[in-house]
Amino acid sequence: MANISEIRVAILGFGTVGSAVAHVLQAQRFPGIRLTHIYNRGVARKRLSDRAAGLSADLVWTENVDEVLQGDVDLIVETIGGLDPMEEWLQLALRSGKHVVTANKQLIAYRAAHLLQLAREHNRALVYNAAVAGGVPVIPATLHGLQGDRITRLSGILNGTCNFMLSHMEQGAEYADVLMQAQVAGYAEADPTADVDGFDARAKLCILARAAMQVGINPDDVPAQSIRTVAAVDFQYARELGCTVRQIARAELQGDTLHARVGPMLVPKSSPIAWSHGTENMVVTTGDFGGDVVFSGHGAGGNPTAVAIVSDLLAVAHGSSSVALPVRDCAVTGEFQAPHYLRFLVRDKPGIVSAISGALTAVGANIDSILQRPGYPKDALPFVVTTEPCLTSTVAAAVEQIAKMPTMLEPPLCLQMLTDDTRG
Ligand SMILES: NC(=O)c1ccc[n+]([C@@H]2O[C@H](COP(=O)([O-])OP(=O)(O)OC[C@H]3O[C@@H](n4cnc5c(N)ncnc54)[C@H](OP(=O)(O)O)[C@@H]3O)[C@@H](O)[C@H]2O)c1
Repeated sequence: MANISEIRVAILGFGTVGSAVAHVLQAQRFPGIRLTHIYNRGVARKRLSDRAAGLSADLVWTENVDEVLQGDVDLIVETIGGLDPMEEWLQLALRSGKHVVTANKQLIAYRAAHLLQLAREHNRALVYNAAVAGGVPVIPATLHGLQGDRITRLSGILNGTCNFMLSHMEQGAEYADVLMQAQVAGYAEADPTADVDGFDARAKLCILARAAMQVGINPDDVPAQSIRTVAAVDFQYARELGCTVRQIARAELQGDTLHARVGPMLVPKSSPIAWSHGTENMVVTTGDFGGDVVFSGHGAGGNPTAVAIVSDLLAVAHGSSSVALPVRDCAVTGEFQAPHYLRFLVRDKPGIVSAISGALTAVGANIDSILQRPGYPKDALPFVVTTEPCLTSTVAAAVEQIAKMPTMLEPPLCLQMLTDDTRG
């Protein structure tokens, strides 16, 4: 490790997060930490942008990545994102003796094992606390503060964009309108797939499971259900059930198998998870010895994420290393035993309820309640059935049969319901 009086830092990527890191470092002037280089493509444009206003004139701005990866800096802050070319660049940085702090969830979710091994071989730090929940220090808390427990359950809201959208839908808006609002506010990309289809949250869930439960899993093995098919009417029915709808990422360790899933789920209004609004993130961990611990705060945004990165940087500079318990590979299944919410849109005909009930009974699922709000036309009637706890695959088998019924106007919506017992 370089002398604490002389940690030279380079930022790779001067976008939302990278520029915020530069400003936080400059504003705080931590002893011994010196930002020396900023790398970005088209660097002249970046240097003249509003984001560069007020930064020290001493900074070296470069678009030659080798100048930072193999130059005389001690620590690289990576805020570009993506797997390619970042994996290769960070490998080169570690081999060249640089510490790495990154906010790159895709890279860590898919390549952590290899990169951490490389970091160990070169006696360098690779730290990624900003990759999950932005400014909420859930990764360092699990890596430092909860390793003494046996964490068996994680659930939470790991994608601020979906939380913004669903908490606005709770007020009565439809999906298409809240997506547009999220895009105008800069929370959702022009292509919102990674957020709304759950890929972003499941990458974060895998990073979190690795830190909290010491399991190595491939994000592609975690089932992800989209929020695209959730409608305003689902919030009305959820309210009647004492619930709301949120995109939930959850994982439960049972023996050598991790039960994991991401998707819109019904959450009891009494649960802390239902209290998070807007772009907030929320995580509840459950340990065998310590019980529940709740984390919440700003899951994204330049400044909150920069705080996580700068805190990592300080930890590396001060030689504070994480506990590194061995990580084991683990089988993954999307199966959960839970009550389910089924919403149908039907052309109303006598006998439809008994047909649905028959399909559920045939697979061994019991109906808990049937809800039908008044005021909808008979030719496009939304109504809801909830089940008693049953396996995800059991209810899916019934839904597959029900979807084929000629009175169904669209595929049924099937959502897991979290209960207090499932830390919902
Ligand atoms: N934004 C958040 O709230 C947040 C929260 C937690 C984690 N993160 C993670 O932080 C990282 C950065 O996110 P961000 O929101 O700051 O993204 P961003 O605003 O798009 O910034 C990325 C920066 O990297 C530059 N860049 C992209 N590809 C490049 C390449 N091949 N060579 C050189 N420069 C390149 C971009 O330059 P151009 O301007 O030329 O495109 C831009 O300046 C991502 O891994 C993201 O997942 C973000």
